[in-house]
Amino acid sequence: MTTKKQKQEPWWKQAVIYQIYPKSFQDTNGDGVGDLRGIIKRLDYLQGLGIDAIWLCPVYKSPGVDNGYDIADYEAIDPQYGTMADMEELISEAKKRGIRIVMDLVVNHTSDQHPWFIEARKNPSSPEHDYYVWADKANELKSAFSGSAWEYDGQVGQYYLHLFAKEQPDLNWKNPALRQKVYDLMNFWIDKGIGGFRMDVIELIGKVPEEEITANGPKLHDYLQEMHHETFGDRDFLTVGETWGATLDNAPLYSDPDRRELSMVFQFEFMELDKQAGKEKWDTKPLDYGDLKNVLAKWQKLDFNHSWNSLFWNNHDLPRIVSRFGNDQQYRERSAKMLALLLHGLRGTPYIYQGEEIGMTNCPVSAIDEVEDIEARRMYQERLAEGWKKEDLIKAINARGRDNARTPMQWDASASAGFTSGRPWLAVNPNCHEINVENALNDPDSIYYFYKKLIALRHQERILTDGSFELLDTADAVMAYHRENAEDKWLVVCNLTGQEQEVSLPDKVKEILLANGPVPEDLAKALLPPYAAFLCRVEKD
Ligand code: GLC
Ligand code: CA
Repeated sequence: MTTKKQKQEPWWKQAVIYQIYPKSFQDTNGDGVGDLRGIIKRLDYLQGLGIDAIWLCPVYKSPGVDNGYDIADYEAIDPQYGTMADMEELISEAKKRGIRIVMDLVVNHTSDQHPWFIEARKNPSSPEHDYYVWADKANELKSAFSGSAWEYDGQVGQYYLHLFAKEQPDLNWKNPALRQKVYDLMNFWIDKGIGGFRMDVIELIGKVPEEEITANGPKLHDYLQEMHHETFGDRDFLTVGETWGATLDNAPLYSDPDRRELSMVFQFEFMELDKQAGKEKWDTKPLDYGDLKNVLAKWQKLDFNHSWNSLFWNNHDLPRIVSRFGNDQQYRERSAKMLALLLHGLRGTPYIYQGEEIGMTNCPVSAIDEVEDIEARRMYQERLAEGWKKEDLIKAINARGRDNARTPMQWDASASAGFTSGRPWLAVNPNCHEINVENALNDPDSIYYFYKKLIALRHQERILTDGSFELLDTADAVMAYHRENAEDKWLVVCNLTGQEQEVSLPDKVKEILLANGPVPEDLAKALLPPYAAFLCRVEKD
């Protein structure tokens, strides 16, 4: 039964989103690169999993310096992925299956091959010149991909800003004509019937480079409100901002519906817990389970009536979660399910990254020439020059490098995992013989079916969307929490470690809803096996 209230709620509050990295999902023409026809081919698989929308990483025309995050034409499809007709077919075929397409919107910067930038360079008195950020002198700002964020252009006689690679010049959002151009391209896609935008590094658009302010600049929220008004404001549309600097205080600025900005943010606080404070992502430290619990629980304290959060473990920039917070050897299946339940039991909109649903793992390399990712390659060169040892750098890349998430999707046990009949652009993980979709579909106990069940619960049970959250008092190695609404009360218990853990919980189990192994009879005095995880309906007090 649908009540009136439920009808008015935006669809994305009860949805699960699946992220596709098109280059690595499914190739159909044997060139070793995934393509749009490949995604169309796999829509039935995604419908079977039960997801509501696809976040599609960039497929726009691009020289591919940062795998599509350097866009040369926002209104054209890159030929390696197919044609605009393929894209339109993907949108309509997905729609037939109840799946919306969320496009990646990369408007903090363009490619240096974008006609705007070509003109900006050639002709400093052109309107396009001011679409970019120029300065007579470089300041201390650093590029996220190593080195200075300023590149000297001899022809112009000025520096231009690039917070990422020098082939990714930053756009100047202070310029109203540029902002209008961005709204136009957004409307171009909205008119094609897409269901949303994932907004790449959106917190940077309000930058004030001369003051070395990048994220959360003073005009950021003005721009987002203007964007809302000029583009998707009246639509039933999902917008999610990539905001590394999101805090409990500023998340509502983006996502309070009354402010008319975005639907929700990606916050990354829990993704930085195994990084040394003040250092770079490559400088790791062991995860403290207490920290993880505290941060996850803290974000559940958002005022969900006036903001919204997303839930994710993986994306195309992050290493695989089962290799990072789980155990990708002895306990791969069990720890992957535990992490799935830990996250999907929470409040917010869950995102699944391709391959997560079959427990795909990191893919170690032994030398830099096996690495494709620009971020890792630049870091390697920079640190090598600073005197770091090769082995240590490769170790860091294996732990945190972005290629870990970008190896081809493992569909079956054949030579290239069913991804391509040709030579894959990035080597397939050798464990594809064991870890693949075909095996997962044939095993009723697989990680895939565990995810499928979690997605179904999200659709069927309002308590996951609306229920309150309460963290229970346990040892750091265990995370246990309640979700509760007027009718119902649920308990999630997860052993975060590969060791047995004792717990004592006050609850009386009414019904086991999902578990990755046996559930202890008596919760008052229970011993949890390694990575044990279960979800129960319990008696309300
Ligand atoms: C975001 C993307 C990442 C890209 C960067 C620059 O962080 O997720 O893949 O390299 O922005 O566009
Ligand atoms: Ca292809």
